[in-house]
Amino acid sequence: MEVVIVPDAAAGGELIAEAVAALLRRTPDALLGVATGSTPLPVYQALAAKVRSGAVDVSRARVCQLDEYVGLPAGHPESYRSVVLREVVAPLGLSPDAFLGPDGTGEDVLAACEAYEAALAAAGGVDLQLLGIGTDGHIGFNEPCSSLASRTRIKTLTEQTRVDNARFFGGDIEAVPHHVITQGIGTILDARHLVLLATGEGKAEAVARTVEGPVAAIVPASALQLHPHATVVVDEAAASGLELAPYFRATRAAKPSWQGL
Ligand code: F6R
Repeated sequence: MEVVIVPDAAAGGELIAEAVAALLRRTPDALLGVATGSTPLPVYQALAAKVRSGAVDVSRARVCQLDEYVGLPAGHPESYRSVVLREVVAPLGLSPDAFLGPDGTGEDVLAACEAYEAALAAAGGVDLQLLGIGTDGHIGFNEPCSSLASRTRIKTLTEQTRVDNARFFGGDIEAVPHHVITQGIGTILDARHLVLLATGEGKAEAVARTVEGPVAAIVPASALQLHPHATVVVDEAAASGLELAPYFRATRAAKPSWQGL
């Protein structure tokens, strides 16, 4: 995998937004897998700025969700459908029809998982999947010990993830659902390009285990080591646990300019 160390979150957002823009110039109807949470917001802001300046045309772009809470009522502001509509679809000026996501509101969660896998396949698969990482190493909501071959299914959040996400629910951990639908690790690995962004010291240990540790279900993000085109973009703080940081910096400095992410 390629590891790129950037000075800060804004630089990471700009770098990834440019990679997305380059993809859309090559493939105007690309399917972009979008993560939620705080980390990817600089990417969406940088991409929206490129749309406003005319640097990229997103009129045919499509987006799809990585995961969704189970049991929040339709239209809840913290459902990931609402978040993606608010943070990605609206600022980019995409049609809500260009958007795919699992239904976390229905009774039949199993059917919703199967339907989402089928919808992703029918859409031709994900071209670029943007990922954040949990402090426990999760990607999507594949918590530690998720099968590395898993497909879209229901998962139970760890206490740590519910504590981490309580900030989106007014600090009330009881308001954070216990269950989620998430693309499985196998589903995520089907995307043609994986781009993981991690910022802040709180992610440093998870990043080090992901990049330099063994591939193991206890660190779900370590499955990126199995993907032929995986890029990990980290700010200085998130890179602080990487032993190979000097090598990653030297590789980046020597990288030919024609070679994108
Ligand atoms: C959410 C998702 C999660 C987050 C992770 C980090 O769609 O995929 O894996 O990326 O929980 O969240 P933040 O960025 O808020 O630290």
